[in-house]
Amino acid sequence: MNSKNKKLIVANWKMNVVSEKDAENLFLSIKNVVPKLDYVKMVTCPPHMYVSQVAALVDHPNYRVGGQDAYPEESGSRTGETSVLMMKNAGAEYIILGHSERRHLETKLDVARKISAVLEHEMTPIICIGEESRDKTWKKQLQKQLQDVFTRVPKKNPENIIIAYEPIWAISSDKKSPASAAECMEALEVIKAELLKIFKTAKAVSAIRFLYGGSLDDKNIEEFLKETDVDGFLIGRVSLDPRILMTMFRLVDDHVYQSSLKKEEE
Ligand code: PGA
Repeated sequence: MNSKNKKLIVANWKMNVVSEKDAENLFLSIKNVVPKLDYVKMVTCPPHMYVSQVAALVDHPNYRVGGQDAYPEESGSRTGETSVLMMKNAGAEYIILGHSERRHLETKLDVARKISAVLEHEMTPIICIGEESRDKTWKKQLQKQLQDVFTRVPKKNPENIIIAYEPIWAISSDKKSPASAAECMEALEVIKAELLKIFKTAKAVSAIRFLYGGSLDDKNIEEFLKETDVDGFLIGRVSLDPRILMTMFRLVDDHVYQSSLKKEEE
């Protein structure tokens, strides 16, 4: 199975798992499911201190491990920081960067340096981009975020870059329908047009993978599967609920399978 056909599901546990036991139980509750699916690849992003523990439980290529942030320098006098190299040595292959819950703690330069360091270590950055609200500046907000980071990072290997479109107003929202598939497509159009200006070629932009994130669950994921062309999803709150997560895996797997059948018929 070509891994390009698989949808990537990134589970961002945030700071919601507070002991080794919790981390183990949560991971084990879904561990047997993903290997049975043909079209799903899952990246679990635990809090830093449980990364190596979860990595040690991974025994199938459909599972990978990621971090929720990392410091760009390899080592040194940086009290309290965890470096990209440390994360790599602990078993992480992906790092979520620029998440809106961290943006107040870091400058655009910090985010750009982190992306560069992750790429230098041949890991995959999952870069979060999203507008604060859908006011009349929303497109400009996305364009600025992209310019702020991507003009400062190496553009050699766009296939190693993942961008997660996460409208900030849609993250962990209690609204029934926080963002629609149409809004996601509209934003991706803006994002891709801006990336074309930065990366210069359509080939480079098409090599970048795009995720959607923001209050996804088993009720709304089908809309995004049917009406967008995203390569996967970044999931926060419901990644802590194995029952919902498993339903989402099956919906994703089934959707990609049905679409591949349709393509064969054409
Ligand atoms: P959510 O979180 O699924 O709870 O909205 C997504 C995220 O913050 O990455």
